[in-house]
Amino acid sequence: MAILAQKTHFFFSLVFIFSLSFQPISSLSTIAISKTSNQTLVCALISSSLYPQQSSLNCTSFPQGIQIPLNPSVSFTGIVGGNGFLCGLTSSSNSIMVCWRFSDNGTDLNYKRVYIGPLLTNLDSGNSHVCGIVNGTNRLQCWQWREFSSSNNSLITSNLAVGEDFVCGLLPLRQIQCLGSYRNVTDAVPVGNYSEIAAGSQYACAISMNGSLDCWGNMVGEKPVDQFKSLALGDNRGCGLKVDGKVVCWGEIGFSLPSNLSDISFETLEAKQDIFCGIETSIYSLFCWGNEIFNSNPVVYDGVQVVPGPCTTSCPCAPLGNYARFCGQELMICEHCVWPGFGQNPPIVNGSGPSPPPLSPQPTPAPSQWSTRNVVFLVVGCVGSLMMLSVLVILFLKYCKSRGCRVHDSGRLDEAGTPPQQGSQTSQVQDQLGPQPSILEKRPSKFLSMGNGGHLEEFSLQLLLQVTNNFSEEHKIGTGSFGSVYHATLDDGREVAIKRAEASASSSYAGGSKYRQEDKDSAFLNELEFLSRLNHKNLVTLYGYCEDNNERVLVFEYMNNGTLHDHLHKLETSSLISWTARIKVALDAARGIEYLHEYAVPAVIHRDIKSSNILLDTNGNAKVSDFGLSLMGPQEDESHLSLRAAGTVGYMDPEYYRLQQLTTKSDVYSFGVMMLELLSGYKAIHKNENGVPRNVVDFVVPYIVQDEIHRVLDGRVPPPTPFEIEAVSYVGYLAADCTTLEGRDRPTMTEIVNNLERALQACLTTPNFSRSNTDSST
Ligand SMILES: *[C@@H]1O[C@H](CO)[C@@H](O)[C@H](O)[C@H]1NC(C)=O
Ligand SMILES: *[C@@H]1O[C@H](CO)[C@@H](O)[C@H](O)[C@H]1NC(C)=O
Ligand SMILES: *[C@@H]1O[C@H](CO)[C@@H](O)[C@H](O)[C@H]1NC(C)=O
Ligand SMILES: *[C@@H]1O[C@H](CO)[C@@H](O)[C@H](O)[C@H]1NC(C)=O
Ligand SMILES: *[C@@H]1O[C@H](CO)[C@@H](O)[C@H](O)[C@H]1NC(C)=O
Ligand SMILES: *[C@@H]1O[C@H](CO)[C@@H](O)[C@H](O)[C@H]1NC(C)=O
Ligand SMILES: *[C@@H]1O[C@H](CO)[C@@H](O)[C@H](O)[C@H]1NC(C)=O
Ligand SMILES: *[C@@H]1O[C@H](CO)[C@@H](O)[C@H](O)[C@H]1NC(C)=O
Ligand SMILES: *[C@@H]1O[C@H](CO)[C@@H](O)[C@H](O)[C@H]1NC(C)=O
Ligand SMILES: *[C@@H]1O[C@H](CO)[C@@H](O)[C@H](O)[C@H]1NC(C)=O
Repeated sequence: MAILAQKTHFFFSLVFIFSLSFQPISSLSTIAISKTSNQTLVCALISSSLYPQQSSLNCTSFPQGIQIPLNPSVSFTGIVGGNGFLCGLTSSSNSIMVCWRFSDNGTDLNYKRVYIGPLLTNLDSGNSHVCGIVNGTNRLQCWQWREFSSSNNSLITSNLAVGEDFVCGLLPLRQIQCLGSYRNVTDAVPVGNYSEIAAGSQYACAISMNGSLDCWGNMVGEKPVDQFKSLALGDNRGCGLKVDGKVVCWGEIGFSLPSNLSDISFETLEAKQDIFCGIETSIYSLFCWGNEIFNSNPVVYDGVQVVPGPCTTSCPCAPLGNYARFCGQELMICEHCVWPGFGQNPPIVNGSGPSPPPLSPQPTPAPSQWSTRNVVFLVVGCVGSLMMLSVLVILFLKYCKSRGCRVHDSGRLDEAGTPPQQGSQTSQVQDQLGPQPSILEKRPSKFLSMGNGGHLEEFSLQLLLQVTNNFSEEHKIGTGSFGSVYHATLDDGREVAIKRAEASASSSYAGGSKYRQEDKDSAFLNELEFLSRLNHKNLVTLYGYCEDNNERVLVFEYMNNGTLHDHLHKLETSSLISWTARIKVALDAARGIEYLHEYAVPAVIHRDIKSSNILLDTNGNAKVSDFGLSLMGPQEDESHLSLRAAGTVGYMDPEYYRLQQLTTKSDVYSFGVMMLELLSGYKAIHKNENGVPRNVVDFVVPYIVQDEIHRVLDGRVPPPTPFEIEAVSYVGYLAADCTTLEGRDRPTMTEIVNNLERALQACLTTPNFSRSNTDSST
């Protein structure tokens, strides 16, 4: 248990170290309110006494009931909550979001990872949905919202606000955009420039540049007339934070701020349904109000410093005065903007014409009439962090020059391509793939002409009998799906693997009645011809064939280092005892399969990806074998064909049973199983401690999505170094995504190749100095 805690801490401290230099301006919350029908869970990020400058999540249930098991060493950058859920975001070069679910009954003690990918710059939740904005592309992505999972017409870059069936936010030039199906809100968006926006379940309000409120949708009650800097809206009620820090509430009859809170100044507010919470300005205590429980005792955290906002690299207006104890030195917490003057537009930054272009996710305009205090803070903050940053960058570059290191590697793990995500835009990719019309086995066998390209040699049966000593047992090296495999050396010195079809298979092939023998023969040759043209350094080369008297024999390049299966499960000594070597094997195999899926015309579905079909040569290169061999089956026997198509037990795509349709995503599933095998060292189907058969997917994936992959890593490989752990856990997430039940949620082989390349890169270029930054107790 101690080891576990240490390792988890270790992983997250790594995340934390990376977070210092990459954090863009973000709109995240440090308070979350979650509800069940009779309980309220208030969570806050509080300044950690154990881990300086980290914020640990602390939750309290009112009345006592919901119990979230929390690890105080995990540092979150933002949290959101809603009906029966709480989600926390950790950010480094990637963002990872995990969610807990609970009900009146109790809590599911396991959290679930719902996102890993490029940084999320904004995150907000309504009662049921969670949405975020992805850095770089500014794509809007939502979770727990089947009808609206991601929108490509969102231009929102800041102030994301999620309601019941709508989401609003600000565009770079501060106009409002609302999307979703709740037309009372989406059709009534006010025109103008706004500084902040908030969403209740059925309405939204925004603060215009002069501080006044504009509300639309189904709002209850009269909006207050005053000057505001921030808002929080619930169901039929709302509260606003005035420029002077005092709070005003409005809404359904009987709702107002409890009178003994009216003198307190607040830094920021949060709301969900009937509950409102605010962080007070002087010592960052947390107060909540809205129902009898809180109104009679509004103090949730007193004397415990609640982090007053997300730590970020720069502020659109002013930073808080005393953020240093919450964030690292380069980071700051921003105050809510108060735009100067009434009825004026925000000042235009000198020299850049109208407001700066909408490239960055942060709000763009800069204020002009700062108070002296703010200017001082800003100047000190900017100069300080700039100097600090330059010194760090110079030191780092100097170091890199001498060592060669990964300046952006942790970013590269995800910056291009689609990150593996549950139920997200991978479905769009699948739509493009569509049903696979060009699958090899559906192809009429005569669509290639008989012309021989000259690639393929025809071997005589006599020669093959001679070199294998009549297919003797000494030459036999294995039994594949196609038949037996023999090792032999040809006269010209080439080492070959000879695959001989089982007699039964060939006789059943010969015994068909629908096709004439010549048709079958020419089909066989056509298909071999096609296979021989598939040329890729990660595919085993087909040299030739022999067809004689119902004998069907294929002659392949011999791979003298055996199968991946043997390396993982049989051999006493193996070359695959480093994480780098294992990720390299996965990448090689992925490239071979990607070639079959993406570059072969027509596309080839391998249908039997498994560790015993991945072969290794002496240089540690891996190649895929046995592709296309399913074609050798009898064509008229549909049931045999589909049986054959399903592949090997333990690697089979479960969706294939349901839909009876084979797609490239079936290979992706099998490949995911193989990656789990590489990581855990367990066979696809293996026996547990009690001798009961167990599937590697069922056993390993739950650890991966819990961020506890270190508990199931193959003990034959030394524990990952601090830099390998990020790569290894990333490969784990990739494998988990490959083995999701729905094919459309699985990544494509191209995405897998891209991700494995980044993981391998991260392993290969390990700067040694970084280890001294972490307590590398592995
Ligand atoms: C949450 O905060 C309370 C009050 O400061 C403290 O007693 C408790 O140990 C904290 N819980 C966790 C899990 O940090
Ligand atoms: C909440 O309600 C459920 C039944 O709806 C009950 O089982 C549970 O004990 C209640 N919890 C509290 C804290 O009252
Ligand atoms: C307990 O939870 C289950 C599902 O988690 C739900 O179906 C059931 O209604 C709940 N029971 C009560 C009393 O809330
Ligand atoms: C965020 O996106 C910007 C623009 O694409 C990019 O320059 C920056 O590196 C990204 N930041 C991170 C941490 O990914
Ligand atoms: C995204 O864009 C594509 C075309 O570029 C369009 O077909 C699709 O409907 C759009 N999706 C959404 C959710 O707007
Ligand atoms: C939209 O607003 C109208 C009145 O403003 C109201 O009658 C209607 O019920 C609202 N629609 C929904 C779905 O709330
Ligand atoms: C909004 O701001 C832009 C400049 O960013 C300005 O040109 C425009 O007039 C403003 N619109 C309103 C309604 O104030
Ligand atoms: C603030 O600006 C809005 C337009 O953005 C305008 O309708 C309103 O009258 C202004 N309020 C004051 C007090 O100037
Ligand atoms: C606030 O007032 C309520 C009664 O309205 C009282 O019960 C409560 O103790 C007061 N809380 C504080 C912190 O003064
Ligand atoms: C803009 O810059 C010019 C010189 O670069 C200066 O003279 C002018 O006062 C500046 N304007 C503002 C509004 O700061």
